[in-house]
Amino acid sequence: MSKLPIITLPDPLLRQASKPIETIDADVKRLASDMFETMYVAPGIGLAAVQVGVPRQMLVLDVADDDETPRPITMINPQIIESSNEMRTHEEGCLSIPDFKLDIDRPDWVRVTYLDLDGKLQELRTGGLLATAIQHEIDHLRGKLIIDFLSRLKRDIVIRRFKKQSRDAMS
Ligand code: NI
Repeated sequence: MSKLPIITLPDPLLRQASKPIETIDADVKRLASDMFETMYVAPGIGLAAVQVGVPRQMLVLDVADDDETPRPITMINPQIIESSNEMRTHEEGCLSIPDFKLDIDRPDWVRVTYLDLDGKLQELRTGGLLATAIQHEIDHLRGKLIIDFLSRLKRDIVIRRFKKQSRDAMS
């Protein structure tokens, strides 16, 4: 396994829609294990392939606490097929938007289908933190970021800050 660089705002790739994965081959499996290492080191509870520069529909998740047994989940081509009317607010961060946090309302639970690394179709109904993480990561696959929950004015302020940071880093 190896740790991969995580792309950050304002990298335009973060706005690109990810393509479905057609064949789960050795490259896809290696990417999944590299994504887990990258996520655990970061540390984070979810990571989409596009965040390591690969715009394909795969995400990795693990919402277990540090003192719990890891609960790694890999989702390929995930789709939310049902979500609750009840909403839940959670403070979210994003590894591609360092040092930024935002309270976001999302459905309290979701039902999601996906392929696992063996290519088997899985269905999961879950709530709480895992439901929040799944929705956040699936947003990444559509090029959507947590700053899109802000008003346009506030979003532009955040984007400008990151543009300035990346300019400063290059000069
Ligand atoms: Ni994110």
